[in-house]
Amino acid sequence: MAFKGQRCRHELSCIIIFDLLLISVTGFVLDGTRAEDLTSKQTCEDVAIIGAGISGSYAAWRLRDHNLSISVYEYSNRVGGRFRTIRFPNSPDINVELGAMREALLNGTDFPANGTFNDYALLHTRTKDGLELAAYFTMGISKEMSDLIRDVVGFRFMFGDVSSANAVPLSNPNRIPTGPRVVQTVKEGMEAVPHTLMDRFLQTSHSHKLHLNRELTKVIRTGATYTLRFKETVTTNGITTYAKNFRMLEVCAKKVVLTVPRLALSKVTFSGLSISHDLSDSIENAVKDVPAFKIFLAYDTPWWRTTNVTHAETDLPNRQVYDFGTSAQTSTSVLAAAYGDMDIVKFWREVQSRGPFMNCLNGNDTCPSEAAVKHVTNFLAEIFQIPLESIPTPVDGAISIWDKFPFGGGWHVWMPGYNWDDVRRDVLQPSPTDHVYFATGSYAPGETDSWSNNALETVERVLKLLSWASSLNALEI
Ligand SMILES: Cc1cc2nc3c(=O)[nH]c(=O)nc-3n(C[C@H](O)[C@H](O)[C@H](O)COP(=O)(O)OP(=O)(O)OC[C@H]3O[C@@H](n4cnc5c(N)ncnc54)[C@H](O)[C@@H]3O)c2cc1C
Ligand SMILES: *[C@@H]1O[C@H](CO)[C@@H](O)[C@H](O)[C@H]1NC(C)=O
Ligand SMILES: *[C@@H]1O[C@H](CO)[C@@H](O)[C@H](O)[C@H]1NC(C)=O
Ligand SMILES: *[C@@H]1O[C@H](CO)[C@@H](O)[C@H](O)[C@H]1NC(C)=O
Ligand SMILES: *[C@@H]1O[C@H](CO)[C@@H](O)[C@H](O)[C@H]1NC(C)=O
Ligand SMILES: *[C@@H]1O[C@H](CO)[C@@H](O)[C@H](O)[C@H]1NC(C)=O
Repeated sequence: MAFKGQRCRHELSCIIIFDLLLISVTGFVLDGTRAEDLTSKQTCEDVAIIGAGISGSYAAWRLRDHNLSISVYEYSNRVGGRFRTIRFPNSPDINVELGAMREALLNGTDFPANGTFNDYALLHTRTKDGLELAAYFTMGISKEMSDLIRDVVGFRFMFGDVSSANAVPLSNPNRIPTGPRVVQTVKEGMEAVPHTLMDRFLQTSHSHKLHLNRELTKVIRTGATYTLRFKETVTTNGITTYAKNFRMLEVCAKKVVLTVPRLALSKVTFSGLSISHDLSDSIENAVKDVPAFKIFLAYDTPWWRTTNVTHAETDLPNRQVYDFGTSAQTSTSVLAAAYGDMDIVKFWREVQSRGPFMNCLNGNDTCPSEAAVKHVTNFLAEIFQIPLESIPTPVDGAISIWDKFPFGGGWHVWMPGYNWDDVRRDVLQPSPTDHVYFATGSYAPGETDSWSNNALETVERVLKLLSWASSLNALEI
């Protein structure tokens, strides 16, 4: 399932791809020298989809059979967004899921969504002193009160600056499994899903395009169509920045579907938003970015399996720990040594910012600092209650910290004072007279967008607004 879309890792290939496709009625705001190459085709595409995460890939895939000219524009050099799978060279058959890892429901599609995590038995909560969190709760408060907190109010939202109402959908006690369970994952890695969708979209028609390293900055209404202004970016070792002497590029589109998260959305200028202060405020402030992080370590031996600790959702900075299994090919074992969100992410951002880095077999943006490895290992010793010396040196590692542009966070949480349903409805089509749609899961009510099915559901809502949904069948490949 190799990804066959157009990539433009290098500036030159980006320009070539772009040159072949552009397209503008208003002309380009360019560095002049290349403008002449770009004016060969004066067309306006039917749909521009902004963002090539799971939402943008899904939207493109859903619209693939409509005989429309559709382009997808992506800020970075990769398809996937918060679906990001890497593999350590020593354990090539284990998906290291740096973003989403489970239970993304894509019903009816033929994704290989049928893996399981080994020993995914890890949900209980314990403190540094080895107390189960439930016991800790009842030390200071009555059983009734702890049940009430769990069932009605939730735990973490009581102490934050976010809407307590978030806790209601999150505090369904059935959400917390008490023993081993099988979860739905993707055999070829979560990132294979957007890649597959994008591949099929591109294969359906020559008028379907993917443009990487393009950041949408402005949507300008020009008569019955829109001029989209993009900033050119470059990606080096997984890190995307603006190209030196970057160009601004413009294209024309009849309809625009933005599938980017809150932070990225709030940075796009769109005149249609100026009509309503409330709406601009909602987009900016109704939900808050929740940073998230993960650290994976690979070992020659699955040392943790000799302990009796089968669970780890802790109040230590590692938060959650998962066994990702042993490679059938090499016997290297992978531990998701830490996975958490909210305030603790600042701690990991700090230790990660200190060099040097561990000896990663793939040196790139995912390589953890030695300080991060040292801290995460110290806490592993406490979690598994074994001497620090008995934990071997990892042979490889990876870290992901979701706290920066374009994501802002791993997901979002509602702020007090906003009506979820109203905001969600208004954001979908922020200007009723414009064909500009915000198909982002960031404003999904309830569980927010911490699950990607909310993002897909939002895409479906936008397709309905575009009146393209009825004639489509999501279950049909
Ligand atoms: C650590 C972690 C764990 C998670 N676990 C799960 C899980 O187990 N199951 C689950 O279902 N979900 C999980 N999620 C949530 C899930 O990853 C998201 O809901 C989903 O990936 C959102 O997809 P999206 O396409 O809407 O947004 P994104 O993946 O954020 O994609 C948006 C894309 O738009 C691009 N972009 C942004 N701004 C611009 C711009 N101006 N111009 C052009 N392109 C732009 C970005 O580069 C990005 O590629 C997890 C998330 C994280 C971070
Ligand atoms: C597809 O669209 C093109 C351009 O609008 C049109 O010429 C062609 O007839 C359409 N094909 C079908 C099968 O509808
Ligand atoms: C997807 O399919 C599963 C199993 O067939 C079913 O339990 C679930 O409700 C479906 N989810 C959606 C969103 O349709
Ligand atoms: C997933 O695996 C189970 C057990 O191997 C099998 O019964 C089921 O049909 C599979 N489902 C899919 C969607 O492949
Ligand atoms: C693990 O549990 C078994 C059975 O309860 C017990 O015999 C053994 O001593 C425990 N081992 C450790 C390391 O605690
Ligand atoms: C590092 O980057 C390379 C090339 O972009 C990629 O193939 C590899 O999977 C990455 N490895 C890690 C551990 O991040």
